[in-house]
Order: sequence, then C-alpha cells, then structure tokens
Amino acid sequence: MSSAPVKLKIYAEMLEKELERLMPKEECLQSEIFEACRYSLLEGGKRLRPFFSMTFFELCGGKAEDALSFAAGIEMIQSYSLIHDDLPCMDDSDYRRGKLSNHKVYGYSTAVLAGDALLNRAFEVFTSPMEGIKPLDQLAAANVMGTASGVYGMVGGQVVDLALENRQCTAEELEKMVSLKTGALIAGSCKSGCCLAGASPEKAEAAYNFGMAVGLAFQIRDDMLDLVGTSEQVGKPMGSDAENNKNTYASVYGLEKCEQLVKELTDKALESASVFGEEGKAVLSEIALWLINRTY
Ligand code: IPE
Ligand code: IPE
Ligand code: MG
Ligand code: MG
Ligand code: MG
Repeated sequence: MSSAPVKLKIYAEMLEKELERLMPKEECLQSEIFEACRYSLLEGGKRLRPFFSMTFFELCGGKAEDALSFAAGIEMIQSYSLIHDDLPCMDDSDYRRGKLSNHKVYGYSTAVLAGDALLNRAFEVFTSPMEGIKPLDQLAAANVMGTASGVYGMVGGQVVDLALENRQCTAEELEKMVSLKTGALIAGSCKSGCCLAGASPEKAEAAYNFGMAVGLAFQIRDDMLDLVGTSEQVGKPMGSDAENNKNTYASVYGLEKCEQLVKELTDKALESASVFGEEGKAVLSEIALWLINRTY
C-alpha cells in the first residue's frame, strides 16, 4: 500500500479524538442536538478535507497536530453539508456513510438544526485560541473557509445543482456548479493549511489551484461511482443522480470521457504542486493518484 492511504488513516484517527472532544455527549435539555451532530460527525467519511488542510500546513513548515482543531472545524462543515444534501428537499437520500441519513434517524427539523449547529461550531472552533498559530494567520484561514463554504462556494454550488435539475445544462454551467459545490471546499481546505502556517500568497494560491483541480476530479469520480459503484462500497445509494434528474459529468460526458477528464485534472493539479518543492510534489502526487483510483 502506498503511504497516502496510511497517512490519511493516521490523520483520521487523530481527527476522531479531536471531534469527540469538540462535540461531546452532553446531558442537558438540548441533548438531542449533540446526539444528532455526533451521529453524522463521528466514525465515518474519508476525512479528506481535514487531511488536505493538515498536509498543506505541514508542507508549509507546520506541525500537523497544531492544525488539528482547525481541521476538525473543516470536517464539521463537510458533515453539515452532507446532512443538508440528503434532506428530502435536496437529494432526498436515505443513506450516508453506510448508515441511515441524519433526518431518517432524528427527523427533518433536528437534521436541519444539526447542520446549522455543526456550521456554527466550526466557526467557533476556527476562532478559538490555537497553540502554535498566529492569530492573524488563523483569521485568514477562517476567512478562506467562510468563502469556500458560503454563497461564493459550496452553498452557491448546491443552489445551482438544484436549479439545474430537470433541464439540460451547458458545459460551462456544469463546470461552474461543480467548482462551487465541491471544488471550493476542497480548494479552501488546502489553502487554509497554508494560511494557518503563514505561508506566502504564492503558496496559498498554488494550494487553492491544486485543490480546485483535485476537487473537480473528485466530483467527476463521485458522479461516475453513482453510475457504476456499489452502495456497499460507497456507503450511499447509487443511481440517485439519474433518479433526481441531475446534471453530472457522467450524464453529460459519459464514462469514457470522464476517465480522461479525471486524468487531465490530476495532471493540472500536479502542475500547481511544484511550488512545494520535490518532496511536496511527491506527497501531493501520491495523494492525487490515489484519489484517481478510488472506488469509495
Ligand atoms: C461527498 O464527499 C460529497 C461530494 C463532494 C462528492 P466525500 O466523498 O468526501 O464524503 P465523505 O466525507 O467521505 O463521506
Ligand atoms: C456534492 O454532491 C454534495 C455537497 C456539496 C454537499 P452530491 O450530491 O453528488 O454528493 P453525494 O453523492 O450525495 O455524496
Ligand atoms: Mg447533491
Ligand atoms: Mg447528494
Ligand atoms: Mg454524488
């Protein structure tokens, strides 16, 4: 096994403990919201976005542990986005990460509030004092994540995704939608690690470009898996894009062309990686190549 999945697993284990610390079980009148948040946040998911933030932090000279709580905040945003994505008013999906979706267990209103709670908690975490991080660097990183997840990023993309249901879209619309809904959060996560380390704007921009290309490739693979994957492996229902009349890379371009696009985008990502030196490029290319071949 290459070291990328090994490293991903090590960081995921560190992250699990941090998430447990930041979103504990609480016995109180509002216990249910803690339970609902923990249900979706803990034990599951590839933890890719926090991994990218910590990896870029390290590549810019930081110690991965110092970026751990910031990375946990990023995973809270990811987890919130998935709870809302699965709601009946969005993709109406009953399974996520190999178990029932949040709203299937806790009901519609608690699932909406669990998403809200995770998003707010993320920014509470981003703005809490962090050892080894300069406050202005932390502020810059939090700002990047706000943009990446909001109207100029993930939320904006989700709006476009829904607006494009049931009609044919152009290649430009498709690329814009995916750049916003998936690319922005992955690119922002990469850039946040550079910002936290106080790296140069040149490195921060290169990390963003790397993440954007990888993010597009990642969503194309997700769209392909929706057609050819198995729900046991991927942990969510397959075939749901067609059922929802979604425009996806797979539906617009077909599988063969998608395979080619994933490769092109990975090459493009690796061009941006050269700013991080030989060692950085080696680490990033290993991750990108591993992602190309993922089956879950
Ligand atoms: C799911 O993201 C949403 C997409 C952008 C395709 P992931 O595939 O990273 O989901 P988890 O976090 O591993 O569950
Ligand atoms: C990405 O798109 C979802 C988010 C940006 C939250 P999908 O709707 O394809 O993600 P999955 O397939 O449900 O994980
Ligand atoms: Mg969706
Ligand atoms: Mg979905
Ligand atoms: Mg999908």
